[in-house]
Amino acid sequence: MKREHHLSPFLRNPPARLDLASLPTPVERAPWLDAPGAAVYVKRDDQTSRLYGGGKVRKLEWLLANPPYDDRRPIVSVGGIGSHHLVALALHLQAQGRELHAWVFDQVPTRHTLDDLAVLLSTGAKLWAVPTRPALPLAWLAYRTWNRPEQAGVYMPPGGTTGLACLGFVEAGLELAQQVKDGVLPAPQALYVTGGTCGSCCGLALGLALAGLPVRVRVVSALERLYLGTTLLKRTLGQAFAALVRAGLRPELAALGPAGLLARAGVTWSIDHSQVGSGYAVPTAAGEEAVALAASGGLSLETTYTGKCLAALRRDLAAGAVSGPVVFWDTHGANDLRQHIVPGWEARVPMALRRRLIRAGAALPAAT
Ligand SMILES: Cc1ncc(COP(=O)(O)O)c(C=O)c1O
Repeated sequence: MKREHHLSPFLRNPPARLDLASLPTPVERAPWLDAPGAAVYVKRDDQTSRLYGGGKVRKLEWLLANPPYDDRRPIVSVGGIGSHHLVALALHLQAQGRELHAWVFDQVPTRHTLDDLAVLLSTGAKLWAVPTRPALPLAWLAYRTWNRPEQAGVYMPPGGTTGLACLGFVEAGLELAQQVKDGVLPAPQALYVTGGTCGSCCGLALGLALAGLPVRVRVVSALERLYLGTTLLKRTLGQAFAALVRAGLRPELAALGPAGLLARAGVTWSIDHSQVGSGYAVPTAAGEEAVALAASGGLSLETTYTGKCLAALRRDLAAGAVSGPVVFWDTHGANDLRQHIVPGWEARVPMALRRRLIRAGAALPAAT
């Protein structure tokens, strides 16, 4: 049965959407995280999809249902060698018999990162690899040289974040508000979510605002200030809001603009860079500790995004900087992906990347 749009009451022409996710995701109490005066709830977006979910599938539901991504052409996107966005996109495209091309940059080759790389290549995705983020234009150049225009993929921005994709997280905000109405959890005072390209947090903030739920959204950045800051966040909020307006947002809401809509509902946001450590995707001690604690509480986090986000929440709880009901949004798909690794996947690792991985002493995972 087709899932109902939480957005329907707000939009005259809701865009098409695929039903890729099992929603709503559960909200669970996490007493193992509580601090005096604060009760923690976890939004289990790790359970969005049997194939592979986390937050990514919420965006893909909208992206893959609409132009320019809704035909048979390959899609080309960008991320680290262990990018969850690329893995999610590759698996969902593979299920549609379609192909992913990707420009990738090196990340610290943790076990988790290498598993993701193995899954990515096992889907048949084709990679163009460079050692660092600033070198990505070189990957683009190599890609354009290698592929004739008619073979090249349709470009999808990093993290799958477009205005339209954010609607997946606007719906997620409305979904949480419905769960509050249904008594699943009390109205939260604060919500902790990790930020990369900011599609998730911006969509959530707008969804909470549409629902009239005044929440303090704390965006725990996985990226250095150069890559994630107020400018990016405001721009992404604007893009998400513009997508809502294009879809026929009610005129009295459209007239408010993104900042006005948030202000009217009492939704605020702030960015926390304290957990980035030495850089994007470099594990930190606090992040690793948070991942281990979460594992004992039944959550499967990772050290690039969700571990650092939980580390920030734990630090704020310990300092008494957050009180009342608080939500930790778990954006990491918990699926065990090793079943997707095919024998011989290593042969598909681009030569230069393979040399760098060997130099770094990386142990490539085998098919199970
Ligand atoms: C597990 C996880 N959570 C959150 C994010 C960041 O989401 P966004 O790019 O929408 O800020 C990512 C990005 O890849 C991710 O992999």
